Amino acid sequence: MPELIDPGRDCPLCPRLTEFRTVNQEIYSGWHNAPVDTWVTPKGDHAVELLIVGLAPGLKGANKTGRPFTGDFAGDLLYETLQKFDLAEGSYEGHEGDTLTLNNCAITNAVRCVPPQNKPTSHEINQCRPFLKNTIDRFENLRAIISLGKISHDSVVRTLGHKLSAYPFKHNSNYEFETIVLHSSYHCSRYNTNTRRLTPEMFENVFETTLKTLRNVKSCVS
Ligand code: URA
Repeated sequence: MPELIDPGRDCPLCPRLTEFRTVNQEIYSGWHNAPVDTWVTPKGDHAVELLIVGLAPGLKGANKTGRPFTGDFAGDLLYETLQKFDLAEGSYEGHEGDTLTLNNCAITNAVRCVPPQNKPTSHEINQCRPFLKNTIDRFENLRAIISLGKISHDSVVRTLGHKLSAYPFKHNSNYEFETIVLHSSYHCSRYNTNTRRLTPEMFENVFETTLKTLRNVKSCVS
């Protein structure tokens, strides 16, 4: 299974998430109700210089629509910010049939299945990590990752083979690894934005810094 870039629709690796999926398939027939795959710019893998890594699909958002952050509260700020920085274009309408497309980036989650109460266990995060690794590896021109929240940050650091004690989560931190710079942010969740732990300005600062990184690295994308 971990040889796959994306888990299959019936991925059995996490019993609790598999059971939750089955229950949701019964309650919400017609929804996606399966692991949510990475969403990639239409230019293809070769064009991806930035990967955004969220936590996990929201029950009534990405788990319903099948596209990361789409229909989730967190998607409103994320996609507005991506559009501001020219990393997305078209119209974001909270469903997978809108006209939104990504520019030079891709979006994925540390955990691909919706977890109960939005809280994956450590075991589930570990089980899903090989998919994150395969996702990072598939983008040959990847230069930067934006991690949204501590769970995403920690999973990316581990995926890249480094110790969390050396690279602790901090909002707006930048850690340089071999070929990739990791920028981390508080998650753009409803809770964080309502409590103003994360303001739109703080979130934009993270993207501003990331784009500086991308401009400083000579682009390999033709
Ligand atoms: N939706 C996602 O796809 N990921 C998140 O982290 C939050 C909402």
